[in-house]
Amino acid sequence: MADALNFPENFLWGSATSAYQVEGGLDNCDWSKEFPAGKACDHYHKYSEDFDLLEELNLNAYRFSLAWSRIEPEPGEFDQQEIEHYRKVLQDLKSRDITTMVTLHHFTTPLWLSEKGGWANSKVASYFPRYAKKMVEEYQDLVDYWATINEPFVYLGESYLAGEWPPQRRNPYLALKVIYNQLKSHKKAYQEMHEADSEAKVGIVTNNQYSEGNRNFLDEFCAKTMNYFINDWFLNRVDSEMDFIGLNYYFHNKVKFPYRVDNENEKTTDMGWEIYPEGIYHVLKGLQKYNKPVFITENGLADAEDQYRKEFIKNHLRWVHKAIEEGVDVRGYLHWSLMDNFEWADGYNPRFGLLEVDYDSLERKIRDSARYYAQIAKSNSLTMER
Ligand code: FCB
Repeated sequence: MADALNFPENFLWGSATSAYQVEGGLDNCDWSKEFPAGKACDHYHKYSEDFDLLEELNLNAYRFSLAWSRIEPEPGEFDQQEIEHYRKVLQDLKSRDITTMVTLHHFTTPLWLSEKGGWANSKVASYFPRYAKKMVEEYQDLVDYWATINEPFVYLGESYLAGEWPPQRRNPYLALKVIYNQLKSHKKAYQEMHEADSEAKVGIVTNNQYSEGNRNFLDEFCAKTMNYFINDWFLNRVDSEMDFIGLNYYFHNKVKFPYRVDNENEKTTDMGWEIYPEGIYHVLKGLQKYNKPVFITENGLADAEDQYRKEFIKNHLRWVHKAIEEGVDVRGYLHWSLMDNFEWADGYNPRFGLLEVDYDSLERKIRDSARYYAQIAKSNSLTMER
């Protein structure tokens, strides 16, 4: 016996990428020197072939980011050729009737800005909105959804607390400046983008985690505090400047005071991350209070052998469906990622793709799990064996 879990009409089924991770040839941003991505997947040239595959997988939505460093290689100087490039990319998607979601900042920052102190410099709150507004002026007819900043807390944590990502600082004071500058930049960009196009749909993408206490009230208290800071702190502050919420879900934490996070699940991804599908339900329920449409803008796993991906997709979607049944306004699911790509400080080893990429020949191969995902997308429903 099988049950069919149907998703709402017009639900978006898609996948996501970001410029630095897939495009190749990006040599003028803050990552280029210390963490060169080389030719990556050469998506910059192969985008149309990649969209053929997107269509073959029955997907109707694609989230990608613009490389700010291509578009504005020097402060205030916009590169018309690169603007035309992304126009072609967007037109290609539109000609296939694919809903487009564009991220304006997905971790990488133009070199000129990082040399001025990057996101720790309060001037970013005028540079970023200027770029954001320009993008709306250029592409408003081609972009369905705009995401301003990808995962503010992850960026700040990796770049200014852990010190692993550019600019590799470990400085809580700078980290605070960065988070406030991100808030300011988002808010101002939101306003200016709407000035350029009052109909623009502008949101923010956050990486929400589900934390729960392990044994007692102290653990519970810590878990609640983590849920508040990681999931709600930023969103509470931009509540009136977001038309939708983009949710990236990867993590569940079991908290033991003072802060011990155990993984009790035998299955982990190739990144060592726990697989915990139920968590997506809890973070979705946590977003209900904002009363905004929610898009799952990322969810996925590194799994080179493709041994867990199918189950992963199925089990996460089962919990997404439950959240929808209980009234959470989820409008789409975009799997991370369309193809294997450059996983930041971890380089090319982790394999997150629905498409397997051969980095020598740059050939793409559809993984079995992707075919499974394609069936779900086509039928707009998930079949669960009883
Ligand atoms: C998210 C990032 C994305 C990718 C996945 C695995 O935090 O937004 O670029 O690296 O993790």
